[in-house]
Amino acid sequence: MNLGPLTISAPFCQAGLAGYSDRAMRVVARRRGCPYAVTEALLDTIMLAGGEGLRKSIDINDDDHPVAGQIIGSEPETMAPAARILAERGYDVVDLNFACPVKKIKNKSRGGHMLRDVSRGHSILRAVRQQLPRTTLTVSLRRAFDDSPDNQGALFELIDEAWRLGFAAVRVHGRTVEQKYLGRADWRALRELKQRYPRNTIIGSGDVFTAEDAVRMLDETEVDMVWIARGAIGNPWIFRDARLLLQKREMQRGGESLKSPFDPSACESLSPPSIPEQRAALTEHFDIAMQIHGEQLAGRRMRKMGIKYARFHPDAHDVKKAFIEVRSLRDWQAVLTRFYESNGGGVWPASTAADEVNDDPAMQTCET
Ligand SMILES: Cc1cc2nc3c(=O)[nH]c(=O)nc-3n(C[C@H](O)[C@H](O)[C@H](O)COP(=O)(O)O)c2cc1C
Repeated sequence: MNLGPLTISAPFCQAGLAGYSDRAMRVVARRRGCPYAVTEALLDTIMLAGGEGLRKSIDINDDDHPVAGQIIGSEPETMAPAARILAERGYDVVDLNFACPVKKIKNKSRGGHMLRDVSRGHSILRAVRQQLPRTTLTVSLRRAFDDSPDNQGALFELIDEAWRLGFAAVRVHGRTVEQKYLGRADWRALRELKQRYPRNTIIGSGDVFTAEDAVRMLDETEVDMVWIARGAIGNPWIFRDARLLLQKREMQRGGESLKSPFDPSACESLSPPSIPEQRAALTEHFDIAMQIHGEQLAGRRMRKMGIKYARFHPDAHDVKKAFIEVRSLRDWQAVLTRFYESNGGGVWPASTAADEVNDDPAMQTCET
């Protein structure tokens, strides 16, 4: 599929995830089939202040393309130059975050609050486009601010302006801003959106926890690409599996009927990552995180990542407990030596495992 001038080799994307989707997570996923990835939301004012904040915000290298840099902010005057920094530093796409359920700050809004301050959202879209006439731009939104009848037009007003300005895609999370991460994402709303904009690129988001969910979202909503968020944390194999299922679906369709729905029994042929595969991913992930953040911060970030990886281990409970204690590279290696030396198979996570990430405080704010 295409995103503006870019060719993306499969309709899946690793989401922006504050506190997670750094270059380490992106590269580990890419090596396992992730075709396109997004940074965590970068606060425009921090980037513009320069110094350490800017240095930490920008992290890109040759192994990490195509990649979108995502910015969040409340003023056109700061969002536009911040977008320019990302484009100049080599990000292939700039994504504007109008989706995060951040709190209002001093009467200024950012993230999902654009859905109830459409004129501010319009000003930001226009200012960024004016600053970057040729850059591939996308915008991330939620399906509405809330479910009140007078808010339902805001999404379309923002999207219509994005198309008018030549944005390459919009990404829509099927929850309202008020919902934050509670309740179900409304896939029907995604389907209706695609029907409304059949010729534009829509990236669908919300409740994609498995490779099967990703392919089912393509089928049920007909969006052009699926944004894989919580389902990718500690599961870089989700991209390899989603590609495999998509190939199977294409083969199925080539047979009887073009419209035959995705057959979930295809999933039976997927196997969970083996213990050696898990060990390799855990080792790579820590190595890259350490290069980026240094040992101490990598230890902190990787602790929560290890907990999510643990769900594929047959002794998930004990492995998770061991990862919780990790502070250093030595601790990390000790967990690998204790639990990841065998050549055995992994297991599919318990169905409740995906919910655990809801406890992450980063989720409440999307702050970076
Ligand atoms: C811990 C956490 C951090 C997130 N950070 C970002 C972010 O920086 N940028 C963004 O666009 N969305 C962010 N999101 C939202 C996700 O990308 C995604 O839209 C949302 O989780 C819905 O998808 P899911 O239900 O499949 O997880 C975050 C979500 C979580 C759970």
